[in-house]
Amino acid sequence: MPAKGADRDVDADVIIVGGGVIGTAIAWRAARSGLTVTLVDSAGDGPGAGDHRTANQASRVAAGMLGPVSESVFGEEQLLNLNLHAVDRFPSFNRELEQATGKSTGLRTEGTLAVAYDNGDLAALDRLTDFRHSIGLAAERLDARQTRRLEPFLAPSTRGGVLAQGDLSVDNRRYLAALQAAAAAAGVQTVAGTVLMVGARQVEAAVPGPDGPVRITLPARNVVVAAGHATRDIAGVPLAVSGAIRPVKGQILRLRHPGGLPNLLTRTVRAMVQGRDLYFVPREDGELVVGATQEERDDRWVTAGAVHDLLRDAEIAVPAVSELVFAEASAGLRPGTSDNGPVLGRADGDGLIVAAGHYRNGILLSAVTADAVNALLHGREPHPAWHPFTPGRF
Ligand code: GLY
Repeated sequence: MPAKGADRDVDADVIIVGGGVIGTAIAWRAARSGLTVTLVDSAGDGPGAGDHRTANQASRVAAGMLGPVSESVFGEEQLLNLNLHAVDRFPSFNRELEQATGKSTGLRTEGTLAVAYDNGDLAALDRLTDFRHSIGLAAERLDARQTRRLEPFLAPSTRGGVLAQGDLSVDNRRYLAALQAAAAAAGVQTVAGTVLMVGARQVEAAVPGPDGPVRITLPARNVVVAAGHATRDIAGVPLAVSGAIRPVKGQILRLRHPGGLPNLLTRTVRAMVQGRDLYFVPREDGELVVGATQEERDDRWVTAGAVHDLLRDAEIAVPAVSELVFAEASAGLRPGTSDNGPVLGRADGDGLIVAAGHYRNGILLSAVTADAVNALLHGREPHPAWHPFTPGRF
């Protein structure tokens, strides 16, 4: 399918490597803006098909919190600024996605309630809230009674909480499925294959053939690498970028409410339990996501210890969790970077575009990443909030 224009050897205006929320959001918007787009991912085109080496798996394992305020920590003000830009943009992007596909993504707007279980947890939450106030973020302190009035299933001993009204959440699996449907409807071609090497104008991949994998070369005017943690394994990605990306394992649980039990929580809850952090993300359909571990590991085993620890802390924070049905435990690899910020931009002059390293914020940043990469593809500058996150900083 030759692209428009004089360049007759070029098959696509843009090839995107990676079929997670980042790559698929970029693909949808690029196709919608009139470009011919090919997306290469080893997961193929079906939700659930993700394997160990794809960005797709992290998008599916994620919880779907869109929490710039509740995820903000000391020393990451530039990332916070980007995340605030992202949470502003997300609802309109999501609305367009739902309209384009007729699919609901389960966006929720009730905010995040951070809660403290004991006095030490309350002191830590207070320090974090002071910091958030000092940089102008809205986070409302609540005493124990106010906190439990908002979420009556919290443990009776809950000491207090802080409400971040601006935080959102989305059902990440429905969101990914909607992005895939929107991309396909906009004309994005999907190639199931393992990317072996990238350049500024071509991608080499191994695709299934009748007698085993076949090596193919796909030419294009632009190449975007959006392969999550696997970006570091792809030949042709500049070493400074691949060396800055590392997998950070997260294990996470999905529980379900049995018939007759009301949904235990109405908003995202981040609990500090005897010095340990965990989060709960409720869905309207009765799913409750509980996460997550944070491990410097490169495997996707679900371990007995992690499941135990998550369930133990979940039950301390919200005792009725023990009544829920255990639906799933899964593990994903977040694409961490050496400064916790994403990497977005051309790796050199007019070369390869990298959109990776979204670490704990991939779902949140997907819409503004699609905007920024499309700005680059059309010769424009991304939003200024992206300026600190160019590949050149490494
Ligand atoms: N953003 C939540 C996590 O990475 O676990």
